[in-house]
Amino acid sequence: METRHLRTATTAVLALTTACMGGESDMASSGKILVAHRGASAYAPEHTRAAYELAIEQGAHFIEPDLQITADSVLIALHDETLERTTNVEEVFPDRFREVVNRNGLLVRVWFAVDFTLEEIKQLDAGSWFSPEFAGERVPTFSEVIDIARGRAGIFPETKAPEVYGDQGYDMEHLVALELQSHGLHVQGGVEGTPVFLQSFSPESLRILRHEHGLDLPSTFLVSQYVDGQRWFSVDGLAEIAEFATGIGPSKDLLIAFPNVVERAHAAGLTVIPYTFGSRDPDERDEAVQETRYFLYNLDVDGLFTNNPDLFPS
Ligand code: G3P
Ligand code: CA
Repeated sequence: METRHLRTATTAVLALTTACMGGESDMASSGKILVAHRGASAYAPEHTRAAYELAIEQGAHFIEPDLQITADSVLIALHDETLERTTNVEEVFPDRFREVVNRNGLLVRVWFAVDFTLEEIKQLDAGSWFSPEFAGERVPTFSEVIDIARGRAGIFPETKAPEVYGDQGYDMEHLVALELQSHGLHVQGGVEGTPVFLQSFSPESLRILRHEHGLDLPSTFLVSQYVDGQRWFSVDGLAEIAEFATGIGPSKDLLIAFPNVVERAHAAGLTVIPYTFGSRDPDERDEAVQETRYFLYNLDVDGLFTNNPDLFPS
């Protein structure tokens, strides 16, 4: 194990406290990390400028872009590999679908982001699906998300489906490394007020970012499946994670299923930042606050992803 990275992990929270000083995103007095999941996505359409700006206004320490790739190799902030859930692509490009068999065995039409150039994707309305007041919001590039955050909040980019893109001739990790470098964010402390935390469900993607591209940045390995929890949350599994990441990002359910993992992860020098908290329903927000407090202070996680940055305990 590389002691340099272990040291990075064990001091990550403290370092981030310092790194965020001076921006709009001063850390909570507790030192816990607030990651705005897809922006303030309970109140504004996910992965839009509106959601990211609101998240920063609400005190998010980090804004989260999930990353996909356009046909012309541009990283964009988008959760799904396809565009139809969060844009009006079906209206603008009605014939540009592919037919695929979905999880229920049904043949459905989908509009893959990778089938469109950035210029085409920029024609899409990424806000109306959420509410008419957000009509005209656009799908931002990763570069634009960085510009929104610069000096005001950190970024927490996630490589989405890197192997799927790899099979189509795209190199997501290379694009991420290039983008971070062009913004001076490829090293810790590169831009004051904008720390970077990498994340992925793919161990290989995190390995490549660290070992092939030399990105000495904090990183979170996301885990969602119970069988993966069994594999990775053992003492040996956590030690292996420490070779390619500085922390874990379990789903909430998985953290409940493996209650010892926080203590074990901390013992292995790993941070624990679970997902996803908050609610779009105003009637559920008291419950969301209680849940957030329970995970932060009873389970002692280091931070969390939330759709409601304003509900994060100060
Ligand atoms: O990245 C943490 C969390 O966002 C993972 O789930 O599907 O919302 O990207 P997802
Ligand atoms: Ca994500």
